[in-house]
Parts: sequence; C-alpha cells; structure tokens
Amino acid sequence: MAPTAYVQELSKLTSTSDLMSSIALVYFSPTGNTKKAVSSIGELPCVTVKTFDITGNVEVPETDLSGFDFVVFGAPVYAGRIPACSVDRFKKMKGSGTPCALVLTYGNRAYEDAPRELGDIAEANGFRIKGVATMASQHTYGQIQLGRPNKDDIAELQEFYFHMLAKAEEPETVIPPGNYPYKVVETKAKFKPTTNGNCLACGMCIRDCPVGAIEEDIKTVNDNCIGCMRCVKNCPMKAKSVVADAFSDFEKLLSERLKNRKENEFFV
Ligand SMILES: Cc1cc2nc3c(=O)[nH]c(=O)nc-3n(C[C@H](O)[C@H](O)[C@H](O)COP(=O)(O)O)c2cc1C
Ligand code: SF4
Ligand code: SF4
Repeated sequence: MAPTAYVQELSKLTSTSDLMSSIALVYFSPTGNTKKAVSSIGELPCVTVKTFDITGNVEVPETDLSGFDFVVFGAPVYAGRIPACSVDRFKKMKGSGTPCALVLTYGNRAYEDAPRELGDIAEANGFRIKGVATMASQHTYGQIQLGRPNKDDIAELQEFYFHMLAKAEEPETVIPPGNYPYKVVETKAKFKPTTNGNCLACGMCIRDCPVGAIEEDIKTVNDNCIGCMRCVKNCPMKAKSVVADAFSDFEKLLSERLKNRKENEFFV
C-alpha cells in the first residue's frame, strides 16, 4: 500500500476505536533516530499515546504497561545487539499478554541479533510480538544515509503500524530476526569525545549522557562511555567532538563501505 493509500484507509475509519485506544511508546535513543521513528505512531488516531523515554541516566522504575492496548519498543542497533545499557531498562517494562511492536534503527550496515534480543526481553516480560520493523537510518558515525529515517521511511513505518494494529487481537505472533547465541560485543567506546573552549558549562551533557560517563568537570569522560555521540550531537555550543586522526579515518572508511542504501524491512 502506498503512503497515500494509507492516509485514505485511515480516513475510512469511523472512530478512533477502529484502531487502538491507548498506546505506550518506549524507546532508548541517544541521537534521536529511534525516537523519530517510534514517535511517528503518535500521528495515528489513537485516544492516548504515552511516551517512556528510557535514554537518560536515570533509574527506570518497574513499569506496568498491561493497561495499554498496544506497546511499541524502540532501540538502536549497536554492533548487532541492542545497547547493553538499555537491556535492564527494557526489562523493567511489564505486560500481560499485551501486543507489541519492535522498531530497530540501524546505520545501514546490519541489524544482526538486535531484534531477537529486544524481542526476547519483551516476550519474557509478558508481551506478544505482533510486528518487527528494521529501519535503515543515518549512522552515528561518518556520512551515511543522512536524514534517515526520512519522511518516506516514516510513511512506510506508519503503513506497517496500521496493518499490525488491525491484527493486534489475533493470536499469531512474530519471531524477530536474529540468532543464538547473540553476537559477543565490546561495549566500551573506541573513541571518546573531548571538550573545546566553547563550553559554557551548562551541564546538559552531564545530565543527558545515557551512562553517566561525563564527570562534573565536563572534560573528563570516564570508561562508561559507549560512544553514542549524544553529547556531540546535542551540545548547543558544538563544544564536544572526537578529535583523532584514527577517528576521521574510521569515519571515511565506514562511509565508503556503507554507501549503498539498504531498505527498511517489516515482519508481520
Ligand atoms: C556504538 C555504536 C554501534 C553501532 N553499531 C551499528 C551496527 O552494528 N550496525 C548498524 O547498521 N549501525 C550501527 N550503529 C548505528 C546506529 O545503529 C544508528 O545510527 C541508529 O539509528 C542510532 O539510533 P539513535 O539515533 O536512536 O541513537 C552503531 C552506532 C553506535 C553509536
Ligand atoms: S552541553 Fe556543551 S556547553 Fe553544555 S556543558 Fe556540555 S559541552 Fe559544555
Ligand atoms: S560521553 Fe560517551 S556515552 Fe556519554 S553521551 Fe557522550 S558519547 Fe555518549
């Protein structure tokens, strides 16, 4: 179905209850690609959409999502897995046979075991997986698929939601792609950001770092750093960056290697 057809289908609905009445959006998204994708469900005609952003460095409390009609979980792919620091946060989300969808954004290389890993957490916590979307997105590093997910990607994703929500009550579930054992990965950053003289000591990067890696002096980045580049992307003064020839070489190589566009995939 083309995106325009999707809009027409929506306009045929007589009331919001033809879809869902309450949807929870749960995402870990250091640089915003996953947030952008998952948030697009908010444009569907639902009665309520509640958002749980579990990216910041705060203790995520155990959260009962069984009262929602549908839950969307979103995570980026890090080295073919979901980010290690997000695992315990997703595990706090509890359902009770609650239908859900998984949205994985990845930087045009590969998603490997990440959908299966996120799906295993969701299933173990009482969710029924009704669909999985793997979205080829702008990579954190280099110049790869800039701007994705873009409006065409979002239109595809909304179409997927629409079909999936319509089948939410059916008993069938989807097995997410991925293999066992999951890939073994190194979670520590190879390249850590440094701080230049533009810094105004506003403290935003300290508060927002997903793993509390930025010390009070702002300049010191400890070994918790996962290289997510949230601080680099969000600093209003452009004071954070990775300054290393080896990093520039890595970005160039990666950009060349991943220059061919990958398509989004939807499993329903
Ligand atoms: C540490 C790290 C590892 C990554 N590993 C992969 C990977 O294995 N495959 C891939 O295609 N993209 C990879 N990426 C790119 C991200 O998955 C991609 O840019 C994602 O959309 C970022 O999501 P966010 O903007 O919600 O944080 C990696 C990014 C980082 C920071
Ligand atoms: S967000 Fe930027 S300006 Fe603010 S403390 Fe961090 S580095 Fe400094
Ligand atoms: S210090 Fe490291 S982990 Fe923290 S936001 Fe910056 S890149 Fe991400």
